[in-house]
Amino acid sequence: LRPIEWLSGRVRLVDQARLPHVEAYLETADYRELAEAIRSLKVRGAPLLGITAAYGLALAAREPSGGSLEALLAQLRRAADELRATRPTAANLTWALDRVLRIAEGAPSVLAAVESVEAEALRIHEEDVAVCRRIGANGASLIESASSVLTHCNTGSLATGGYGTAFGVVRAAFDEGWLDHVYATETRPLLQGARLTAWELQREGIPHTLIVDSAAGSLMRRGRVEAVVVGADRIAANGDVANKIGTYSLAVLANENGVPFYVAAPTSTIDLDAREGEAITIEERAAAEVTSLAGTPIAPEGTPAVNPAFDVTPARYVSAIVTEAGIARAPYGETLAAQVRTEAASHG
Ligand code: MRU
Repeated sequence: LRPIEWLSGRVRLVDQARLPHVEAYLETADYRELAEAIRSLKVRGAPLLGITAAYGLALAAREPSGGSLEALLAQLRRAADELRATRPTAANLTWALDRVLRIAEGAPSVLAAVESVEAEALRIHEEDVAVCRRIGANGASLIESASSVLTHCNTGSLATGGYGTAFGVVRAAFDEGWLDHVYATETRPLLQGARLTAWELQREGIPHTLIVDSAAGSLMRRGRVEAVVVGADRIAANGDVANKIGTYSLAVLANENGVPFYVAAPTSTIDLDAREGEAITIEERAAAEVTSLAGTPIAPEGTPAVNPAFDVTPARYVSAIVTEAGIARAPYGETLAAQVRTEAASHG
């Protein structure tokens, strides 16, 4: 499944807001339309947001800018600001934009800048698939002794370049024959678990059961869940993890019930500038997403609602953080920095 594709000057992506019942695509040559697709969650998931933003800059580079390198760089910085402002929590979005901008700034000419921006966006996409495969292989070893796992939100092909983070761990453990069953939370308010994870699990032939978010604790207490595996939108230097709203509750419940709680993410999700979870900006979304379900109002008109899209799980609840560089355990202040250094060194 290719959630996004670069078609020589156009970007084509799966419109995730319409899944699972309608498989529709959005195709555009305008980065502003990509920014709108990000805001409206037609495209989502931390690593895929980074890839989408990078392609957004590749589109912006092709727009007329006046002929000078300085004018092109100014145009790219404006586009990057617009893309950066779409969703504040996913670290990968900013990481990808900064990476592409750095490449453009080092180019000797307008033509070289346009070409190198496009090449870098394609590289970010390709790298993500390889990185997720490594996350999957590293994380599967943790699942060896757990035949049923619970996962939250969507972390699969639809959230990444095409393999998945936590879903990649599930995929790899299933391929090894170690995993019998996956419990997927529906993930209110926008139902990424019910709409997207269940769809991906079905396509992959992985046995699964959908649960309402509030059923997780009861299942863990009854011994039906042997590990929880989730993704991350931003990981602070001390190991605090920002991920889809409801992750914190799952972590506390897992700890209460002696169930290991694993986080799977690329090192590009680790933000060493955020010392702890408190420093992470949590996106607040429209109240209407809570007061309605799939577009149908479910609360009395005028009901106030609060809608944080993410929460922060303190590092003390996290049993391990799996990245492409390996498995990090507490003290995360040391192990995460070492993993980021390892990856930086491997890219020269
Ligand atoms: O609001 P979303 O759907 O973009 O949230 C996605 C998540 O919270 C995922 O768990 C996270 O991005 C990790 S995905 C690989």
